[in-house]
Amino acid sequence: MESKKIHRREFIAGSIGAGAMALGLGVRPSHLQAQAYGPEPIGFPLPQPQVLLDVDAVRQTAYDRYFEGGCMFGAAASLIEAFRSACRSDDAGGGYSDWDLIPTAMFKYGSGGVAGWGTICGILNGAAAVLAMADYGSLIGQVIGWYTLQSFPLDNCEGFTAASGFEALADIDVPAHTVSDSPLCHISISKFCEAAGITLKDSSPEGMNYKQDRCSKICADTAALAARLINGELDSESVYATPASYASCLSCHGDIKDQVGKMNCLGCHSTSDVILVGSGHGSDVKPPKSRKKR
Ligand code: HEC
Ligand code: HEC
Repeated sequence: MESKKIHRREFIAGSIGAGAMALGLGVRPSHLQAQAYGPEPIGFPLPQPQVLLDVDAVRQTAYDRYFEGGCMFGAAASLIEAFRSACRSDDAGGGYSDWDLIPTAMFKYGSGGVAGWGTICGILNGAAAVLAMADYGSLIGQVIGWYTLQSFPLDNCEGFTAASGFEALADIDVPAHTVSDSPLCHISISKFCEAAGITLKDSSPEGMNYKQDRCSKICADTAALAARLINGELDSESVYATPASYASCLSCHGDIKDQVGKMNCLGCHSTSDVILVGSGHGSDVKPPKSRKKR
Protein backbone atom coordinates (compact mmCIF):
# COMPACT_ATOMS: atom_id res chain seq x y z
CA MET A 1 0.00 0.00 0.00
CA GLU A 2 1.24 3.42 -0.91
CA SER A 3 2.10 5.46 2.14
CA LYS A 4 0.04 8.63 2.52
CA LYS A 5 1.98 11.80 1.92
CA ILE A 6 0.67 15.01 3.31
CA HIS A 7 0.30 17.51 0.53
CA ARG A 8 1.72 20.95 1.21
CA ARG A 9 -1.72 22.55 1.13
CA GLU A 10 -3.03 20.03 3.63
CA PHE A 11 -0.02 20.68 5.81
CA ILE A 12 -0.68 24.41 5.85
CA ALA A 13 -4.39 23.91 6.49
CA GLY A 14 -3.46 21.49 9.26
CA SER A 15 -1.09 23.92 10.92
CA ILE A 16 -3.66 26.66 10.87
CA GLY A 17 -6.13 24.28 12.49
CA ALA A 18 -3.59 23.20 15.09
CA GLY A 19 -2.60 26.81 15.75
CA ALA A 20 -6.18 27.81 16.31
CA MET A 21 -6.64 24.83 18.65
CA ALA A 22 -3.58 25.91 20.60
CA LEU A 23 -5.14 29.35 20.99
CA GLY A 24 -8.11 27.66 22.54
CA LEU A 25 -10.43 28.57 19.71
CA GLY A 26 -11.67 25.02 19.51
CA VAL A 27 -11.52 24.92 15.72
CA ARG A 28 -12.08 21.42 14.35
CA PRO A 29 -9.62 19.92 11.89
CA SER A 30 -10.19 21.15 8.34
CA HIS A 31 -11.61 18.80 5.72
CA LEU A 32 -8.14 18.21 4.34
CA GLN A 33 -6.66 17.55 7.73
CA ALA A 34 -9.55 15.24 8.49
CA GLN A 35 -8.84 13.33 5.28
CA ALA A 36 -5.24 12.85 6.34
CA TYR A 37 -5.75 11.92 9.98
CA GLY A 38 -9.41 11.09 10.37
CA PRO A 39 -11.82 13.63 11.87
CA GLU A 40 -11.85 14.20 15.58
CA PRO A 41 -15.41 13.54 16.73
CA ILE A 42 -17.25 15.78 19.15
CA GLY A 43 -17.64 13.82 22.38
CA PHE A 44 -21.15 12.62 23.24
CA PRO A 45 -22.61 13.65 25.54
CA LEU A 46 -20.75 16.92 25.83
CA PRO A 47 -19.47 17.55 29.33
CA GLN A 48 -22.42 18.79 31.41
CA PRO A 49 -22.04 22.57 31.04
CA GLN A 50 -21.80 24.35 34.39
CA VAL A 51 -23.62 27.40 33.09
CA LEU A 52 -26.98 29.10 33.49
CA LEU A 53 -29.14 29.54 30.41
CA ASP A 54 -31.02 32.76 29.67
CA VAL A 55 -34.61 31.44 29.87
CA ASP A 56 -36.26 34.50 28.27
CA ALA A 57 -33.81 34.39 25.37
CA VAL A 58 -34.54 30.68 24.90
CA ARG A 59 -38.29 31.38 24.76
CA GLN A 60 -37.95 34.19 22.20
CA THR A 61 -35.39 32.33 20.07
CA ALA A 62 -37.49 29.16 20.01
CA TYR A 63 -40.45 31.28 18.88
CA ASP A 64 -38.40 32.85 16.06
CA ARG A 65 -36.72 29.63 14.93
CA TYR A 66 -40.07 27.83 14.81
CA PHE A 67 -41.02 30.03 11.86
CA GLU A 68 -37.61 29.52 10.24
CA GLY A 69 -37.35 25.74 10.36
CA GLY A 70 -40.25 24.13 12.19
CA CYS A 71 -40.95 22.90 15.68
CA MET A 72 -38.05 20.53 16.32
CA PHE A 73 -35.60 23.05 14.89
CA GLY A 74 -37.12 25.77 17.07
CA ALA A 75 -36.72 23.83 20.29
CA ALA A 76 -33.27 22.40 19.56
CA ALA A 77 -31.72 25.52 18.02
CA SER A 78 -32.90 27.80 20.82
CA LEU A 79 -31.29 25.60 23.49
CA ILE A 80 -28.11 25.08 21.47
CA GLU A 81 -27.81 28.82 20.83
CA ALA A 82 -28.28 29.43 24.56
CA PHE A 83 -25.49 26.95 25.35
CA ARG A 84 -23.32 28.64 22.74
CA SER A 85 -23.59 32.03 24.41
CA ALA A 86 -23.42 30.67 27.95
CA CYS A 87 -20.26 28.66 27.15
CA ARG A 88 -18.33 31.57 25.61
CA SER A 89 -15.11 31.71 27.52
CA ASP A 90 -14.49 35.42 27.11
CA ASP A 91 -16.68 38.46 27.59
CA ALA A 92 -16.05 39.72 24.07
CA GLY A 93 -18.07 36.78 22.71
CA GLY A 94 -14.99 34.78 21.65
CA GLY A 95 -13.82 31.45 23.02
CA TYR A 96 -15.98 29.04 21.12
CA SER A 97 -17.03 25.65 22.44
CA ASP A 98 -18.18 22.44 20.81
CA TRP A 99 -21.73 23.85 20.98
CA ASP A 100 -20.71 26.12 18.09
CA LEU A 101 -19.99 23.09 15.92
CA ILE A 102 -23.39 21.45 16.06
CA PRO A 103 -25.30 22.02 12.80
CA THR A 104 -28.72 22.98 14.09
CA ALA A 105 -30.33 22.57 10.65
CA MET A 106 -30.18 18.79 11.20
CA PHE A 107 -33.21 19.17 13.47
CA LYS A 108 -35.54 20.29 10.70
CA TYR A 109 -36.53 16.70 9.95
CA GLY A 110 -38.68 16.54 13.10
CA SER A 111 -41.50 18.83 11.96
CA GLY A 112 -45.00 17.44 12.11
CA GLY A 113 -43.95 14.53 14.31
CA VAL A 114 -40.99 13.50 12.09
CA ALA A 115 -41.40 14.32 8.42
CA GLY A 116 -45.12 14.94 8.85
CA TRP A 117 -45.92 11.48 10.29
CA GLY A 118 -47.50 12.81 13.48
CA THR A 119 -45.39 10.66 15.82
CA ILE A 120 -43.43 12.29 18.66
CA CYS A 121 -44.02 16.06 18.81
CA GLY A 122 -40.97 17.70 17.23
CA ILE A 123 -40.70 20.16 20.10
CA LEU A 124 -40.18 17.27 22.52
CA ASN A 125 -37.83 15.55 20.10
CA GLY A 126 -35.73 18.71 19.77
CA ALA A 127 -35.60 19.47 23.47
CA ALA A 128 -34.76 15.82 24.19
CA ALA A 129 -31.90 15.83 21.67
CA VAL A 130 -30.25 18.80 23.35
CA LEU A 131 -30.84 17.49 26.87
CA ALA A 132 -29.17 14.22 25.86
CA MET A 133 -26.30 16.11 24.23
CA ALA A 134 -25.72 18.20 27.37
CA ASP A 135 -25.70 15.10 29.59
CA TYR A 136 -29.10 15.95 31.05
CA GLY A 137 -30.87 12.89 29.62
CA SER A 138 -32.45 12.28 33.02
CA LEU A 139 -34.63 15.39 32.50
CA ILE A 140 -36.20 14.28 29.22
CA GLY A 141 -39.05 12.40 30.88
CA GLN A 142 -39.94 15.48 32.94
CA VAL A 143 -40.22 17.63 29.83
CA ILE A 144 -42.37 15.07 28.00
CA GLY A 145 -44.61 14.50 31.00
CA TRP A 146 -45.01 18.24 31.63
CA TYR A 147 -46.02 18.79 27.99
CA THR A 148 -48.75 16.14 28.12
CA LEU A 149 -50.48 17.88 31.06
CA GLN A 150 -50.44 21.55 29.94
CA SER A 151 -53.50 23.32 28.63
CA PHE A 152 -51.77 24.62 25.51
CA PRO A 153 -51.18 27.24 24.28
CA LEU A 154 -50.00 29.04 27.43
CA ASP A 155 -50.04 32.84 27.50
CA ASN A 156 -46.32 33.54 28.01
CA CYS A 157 -45.74 34.69 24.42
CA GLU A 158 -48.29 37.48 24.32
CA GLY A 159 -46.87 40.40 22.39
CA PHE A 160 -44.25 38.25 20.64
CA THR A 161 -43.55 39.01 17.00
CA ALA A 162 -41.35 36.54 15.16
CA ALA A 163 -38.53 37.72 12.94
CA SER A 164 -40.74 36.48 10.10
CA GLY A 165 -43.42 39.02 11.08
CA PHE A 166 -45.84 36.49 12.59
CA GLU A 167 -47.63 38.03 15.57
CA ALA A 168 -48.69 35.90 18.53
CA LEU A 169 -52.45 35.96 19.09
CA ALA A 170 -53.61 37.45 22.37
CA ASP A 171 -54.69 34.58 24.63
CA ILE A 172 -58.29 35.74 24.45
CA ASP A 173 -58.26 35.28 20.66
CA VAL A 174 -56.88 31.73 20.84
CA PRO A 175 -59.69 29.45 19.57
CA ALA A 176 -59.12 26.63 22.12
CA HIS A 177 -56.86 25.49 24.93
CA THR A 178 -56.38 21.73 25.08
CA VAL A 179 -54.49 19.15 27.12
CA SER A 180 -52.95 16.56 24.80
CA ASP A 181 -52.49 13.81 27.43
CA SER A 182 -50.05 12.52 24.85
CA PRO A 183 -46.61 13.33 23.45
CA LEU A 184 -47.79 12.48 19.94
CA CYS A 185 -48.02 15.32 17.39
CA HIS A 186 -51.14 13.81 15.82
CA ILE A 187 -53.06 13.66 19.08
CA SER A 188 -51.81 17.01 20.38
CA ILE A 189 -52.83 18.88 17.22
CA SER A 190 -56.02 16.91 16.55
CA LYS A 191 -57.46 17.55 20.02
CA PHE A 192 -56.85 21.27 19.48
CA CYS A 193 -58.41 21.35 15.99
CA GLU A 194 -61.41 19.36 17.22
CA ALA A 195 -62.01 21.64 20.21
CA ALA A 196 -61.48 24.81 18.15
CA GLY A 197 -63.52 23.59 15.20
CA ILE A 198 -60.75 24.48 12.76
CA THR A 199 -58.46 22.79 10.27
CA LEU A 200 -54.72 23.21 10.01
CA LYS A 201 -55.31 25.80 7.27
CA ASP A 202 -57.51 28.21 9.23
CA SER A 203 -56.28 31.62 10.30
CA SER A 204 -57.43 34.50 12.49
CA PRO A 205 -59.03 37.57 10.84
CA GLU A 206 -55.54 39.16 10.94
CA GLY A 207 -54.19 36.25 8.93
CA MET A 208 -52.34 34.43 11.73
CA ASN A 209 -52.61 30.68 11.24
CA TYR A 210 -54.13 29.12 14.38
CA LYS A 211 -52.06 25.94 14.29
CA GLN A 212 -48.82 27.87 13.81
CA ASP A 213 -49.81 30.23 16.62
CA ARG A 214 -50.34 27.27 18.92
CA CYS A 215 -47.26 25.26 17.97
CA SER A 216 -44.90 28.26 18.04
CA LYS A 217 -46.05 29.09 21.56
CA ILE A 218 -45.67 25.47 22.68
CA CYS A 219 -42.21 25.45 21.13
CA ALA A 220 -41.24 28.60 23.05
CA ASP A 221 -42.66 27.45 26.39
CA THR A 222 -41.36 23.89 26.22
CA ALA A 223 -37.85 25.04 25.32
CA ALA A 224 -38.05 27.54 28.20
CA LEU A 225 -39.16 24.76 30.57
CA ALA A 226 -36.18 22.64 29.49
CA ALA A 227 -33.88 25.61 30.13
CA ARG A 228 -35.35 26.12 33.59
CA LEU A 229 -34.85 22.44 34.40
CA ILE A 230 -31.24 22.65 33.19
CA ASN A 231 -30.74 25.73 35.38
CA GLY A 232 -31.96 23.76 38.37
CA GLU A 233 -34.73 26.34 38.90
CA LEU A 234 -37.40 23.68 39.31
CA ASP A 235 -37.75 20.70 41.53
CA SER A 236 -38.08 18.13 38.77
CA GLU A 237 -40.41 15.94 40.84
CA SER A 238 -42.91 18.80 40.94
CA VAL A 239 -42.78 19.23 37.17
CA TYR A 240 -44.28 15.85 36.40
CA ALA A 241 -45.60 12.81 38.21
CA THR A 242 -47.64 10.08 36.51
CA PRO A 243 -51.30 11.11 36.90
CA ALA A 244 -53.24 8.97 39.37
CA SER A 245 -55.75 8.10 36.62
CA TYR A 246 -53.33 5.60 35.10
CA ALA A 247 -50.50 5.23 37.61
CA SER A 248 -52.02 1.91 38.67
CA CYS A 249 -51.85 0.57 35.09
CA LEU A 250 -48.12 1.24 35.08
CA SER A 251 -47.61 -0.22 38.52
CA CYS A 252 -48.61 -3.64 37.13
CA HIS A 253 -47.61 -3.36 33.49
CA GLY A 254 -44.29 -1.79 34.36
CA ASP A 255 -43.46 -5.02 36.20
CA ILE A 256 -45.10 -7.46 33.77
CA LYS A 257 -43.16 -5.75 30.98
CA ASP A 258 -45.72 -6.60 28.30
CA GLN A 259 -45.81 -3.07 26.86
CA VAL A 260 -43.43 -0.17 26.21
CA GLY A 261 -44.52 3.28 27.29
CA LYS A 262 -45.44 5.85 29.90
CA MET A 263 -48.13 7.55 27.79
CA ASN A 264 -51.60 7.92 29.24
CA CYS A 265 -53.08 4.43 28.70
CA LEU A 266 -56.63 5.73 28.84
CA GLY A 267 -56.29 7.66 25.58
CA CYS A 268 -56.33 4.31 23.81
CA HIS A 269 -57.43 1.66 26.34
CA SER A 270 -60.35 1.50 28.68
CA THR A 271 -60.41 -1.10 31.41
CA SER A 272 -62.53 -3.29 29.09
CA ASP A 273 -61.38 -2.82 25.49
CA VAL A 274 -58.94 -0.97 23.29
CA ILE A 275 -60.72 2.26 22.33
CA LEU A 276 -60.80 2.96 18.63
CA VAL A 277 -61.67 6.56 17.81
CA GLY A 278 -64.41 6.32 15.20
CA SER A 279 -64.73 8.60 12.17
CA GLY A 280 -68.49 8.87 12.62
CA HIS A 281 -69.05 9.11 8.89
CA GLY A 282 -69.45 6.85 5.88
CA SER A 283 -66.96 6.39 3.07
CA ASP A 284 -68.83 8.78 0.75
CA VAL A 285 -68.13 11.95 2.78
CA LYS A 286 -67.44 15.22 0.87
CA PRO A 287 -64.77 17.71 2.02
CA PRO A 288 -66.32 20.83 3.63
CA LYS A 289 -65.52 24.31 2.22
CA SER A 290 -64.46 25.44 5.68
CA ARG A 291 -64.73 23.86 9.05
CA LYS A 292 -64.23 27.04 10.96
CA LYS A 293 -66.85 27.59 13.65
CA ARG A 294 -65.68 31.04 14.57
C1 HEC B 1 -53.30 -5.56 39.24
C2 HEC B 1 -52.42 -5.48 38.09
C3 HEC B 1 -52.95 -4.79 36.83
C4 HEC B 1 -53.43 -3.52 36.74
C5 HEC B 1 -53.58 -2.47 37.84
C6 HEC B 1 -53.73 -3.32 35.36
N1 HEC B 1 -53.46 -4.45 34.63
FE1 HEC B 1 -53.71 -4.70 32.63
N2 HEC B 1 -53.21 -6.66 32.80
C7 HEC B 1 -52.78 -7.25 33.94
C8 HEC B 1 -52.49 -8.65 33.65
C9 HEC B 1 -51.98 -9.66 34.66
C10 HEC B 1 -52.78 -8.84 32.30
C11 HEC B 1 -52.65 -10.10 31.50
C12 HEC B 1 -51.19 -10.13 31.10
C13 HEC B 1 -50.84 -11.12 30.10
O1 HEC B 1 -51.71 -11.84 29.61
O2 HEC B 1 -49.66 -11.15 29.76
C14 HEC B 1 -53.23 -7.58 31.77
C15 HEC B 1 -53.55 -7.34 30.46
C16 HEC B 1 -53.79 -6.09 29.92
C17 HEC B 1 -53.95 -5.79 28.52
C18 HEC B 1 -53.84 -6.78 27.39
C19 HEC B 1 -55.19 -7.16 26.87
C20 HEC B 1 -55.87 -8.08 27.77
O3 HEC B 1 -57.01 -7.76 28.17
O4 HEC B 1 -55.31 -9.15 28.08
C21 HEC B 1 -54.17 -4.46 28.40
C22 HEC B 1 -54.43 -3.67 27.14
C23 HEC B 1 -54.14 -3.92 29.74
N3 HEC B 1 -53.90 -4.93 30.63
C24 HEC B 1 -54.29 -2.57 30.03
C25 HEC B 1 -54.38 -2.06 31.32
C26 HEC B 1 -54.71 -0.69 31.61
C27 HEC B 1 -54.98 0.40 30.58
C28 HEC B 1 -54.69 -0.56 32.97
C29 HEC B 1 -55.05 0.65 33.80
C30 HEC B 1 -56.36 1.20 33.57
C31 HEC B 1 -54.35 -1.87 33.51
N4 HEC B 1 -54.17 -2.75 32.48
C32 HEC B 1 -54.19 -2.13 34.85
C33 HEC B 1 -52.61 -6.67 35.17
C34 HEC B 1 -52.99 -5.38 35.50
C1 HEC C 1 -51.54 5.58 21.46
C2 HEC C 1 -52.42 4.49 21.87
C3 HEC C 1 -52.00 3.62 23.05
C4 HEC C 1 -51.57 4.03 24.29
C5 HEC C 1 -51.40 5.45 24.79
C6 HEC C 1 -51.36 2.84 25.06
N1 HEC C 1 -51.63 1.74 24.32
FE1 HEC C 1 -51.47 -0.18 24.91
N2 HEC C 1 -51.90 -0.81 23.05
C7 HEC C 1 -52.31 0.01 22.01
C8 HEC C 1 -52.60 -0.82 20.85
C9 HEC C 1 -53.09 -0.29 19.50
C10 HEC C 1 -52.37 -2.16 21.26
C11 HEC C 1 -52.57 -3.41 20.46
C12 HEC C 1 -53.98 -3.83 20.77
C13 HEC C 1 -54.38 -5.08 20.11
O1 HEC C 1 -53.81 -5.48 19.11
O2 HEC C 1 -55.34 -5.65 20.63
C14 HEC C 1 -51.94 -2.11 22.64
C15 HEC C 1 -51.63 -3.22 23.41
C16 HEC C 1 -51.35 -3.22 24.75
C17 HEC C 1 -51.12 -4.39 25.56
C18 HEC C 1 -51.16 -5.83 25.10
C19 HEC C 1 -49.77 -6.27 24.74
C20 HEC C 1 -49.75 -7.72 24.43
O3 HEC C 1 -48.65 -8.25 24.37
O4 HEC C 1 -50.81 -8.34 24.27
C21 HEC C 1 -50.92 -3.98 26.84
C22 HEC C 1 -50.63 -4.82 28.06
C23 HEC C 1 -51.02 -2.54 26.82
N3 HEC C 1 -51.27 -2.10 25.55
C24 HEC C 1 -50.89 -1.74 27.94
C25 HEC C 1 -50.84 -0.36 27.90
C26 HEC C 1 -50.58 0.45 29.05
C27 HEC C 1 -50.37 -0.08 30.46
C28 HEC C 1 -50.58 1.73 28.62
C29 HEC C 1 -50.30 2.97 29.45
C30 HEC C 1 -49.04 2.98 30.14
C31 HEC C 1 -50.85 1.71 27.19
N4 HEC C 1 -51.02 0.42 26.79
C32 HEC C 1 -50.93 2.85 26.38
C33 HEC C 1 -52.40 1.37 22.03
C34 HEC C 1 -52.02 2.17 23.08
